Amino acid sequence: MEFRKLLLSIAVFVMITRPSGVSSRTKLRGSGLQPRRYKVTKPFNPRGSCDGNVAPTHKRLVLLWSKLRFHLTVLSNETLHGVNDTYCQPARRCLFELQSCGTSLIRIKHVKTGVYVAINKAGKVYTTRKSHKLDTMFVQELLPNNFVVFWSERTYKKMKRTRYLALKKNGAIKNASKTSSKHKSAHFMVMYCTQATTPKC
Ligand SMILES: *[C@@H]1O[C@H](CO)[C@@H](O)[C@H](O)[C@H]1NC(C)=O
Ligand SMILES: *[C@@H]1O[C@H](CO)[C@@H](O)[C@H](O)[C@H]1NC(C)=O
Ligand SMILES: *[C@@H]1O[C@H](CO)[C@@H](O)[C@H](O)[C@H]1NC(C)=O
Repeated sequence: MEFRKLLLSIAVFVMITRPSGVSSRTKLRGSGLQPRRYKVTKPFNPRGSCDGNVAPTHKRLVLLWSKLRFHLTVLSNETLHGVNDTYCQPARRCLFELQSCGTSLIRIKHVKTGVYVAINKAGKVYTTRKSHKLDTMFVQELLPNNFVVFWSERTYKKMKRTRYLALKKNGAIKNASKTSSKHKSAHFMVMYCTQATTPKC
């Protein structure tokens, strides 16, 4: 009887003290603004559900407002740039479509020009019409301060360093190799809008 009780208490002790799933993700670092890394399930499809010619499952029309007090837009020469409220009065000019390709995985399409935001291996942020390129896949992540960051899953895998979409103080786009989730320049507020022809945001 005593022996069985002892065994039982050992079993309970082991169950309580066993580490619970801590290893499934890396710990939060630094200022607490470092986003959580999701463990990717295998087999991993880097394009999520947007592989091949499959349409994204879900689309949202948005304005992307930078913490540096710019709206993100694509100018008529297809360059990404931060602009002011006046420029975005015709809201369609600054409207983006966030295309959901799976959990946190998105593509960012500028509605008026039809181009996608992309980051290449060198950290260059550019726009492209080729939506199937891996460069166009981003992870959207919510920070504890309610701003979001967009980072490139692809370059993270290759370089083991996260590359974020970010603006410089003059509104120009920043080299993604020099970004961090702790920088304001990478923080965006997602403002949801109604339909694309005369959007209300
Ligand atoms: C695009 O236009 C902006 C503003 O007119 C200009 O500053 C920028 O240099 C142009 N970019 C390219 C690649 O032509
Ligand atoms: C907003 O930006 C435009 C150019 O994109 C400029 O002409 C205008 O003066 C700016 N307005 C303000 C209030 O800064
Ligand atoms: C971005 O910065 C990195 C590191 O300084 C540099 O190697 C790379 O060439 C830069 N990329 C562009 C497009 O300027």
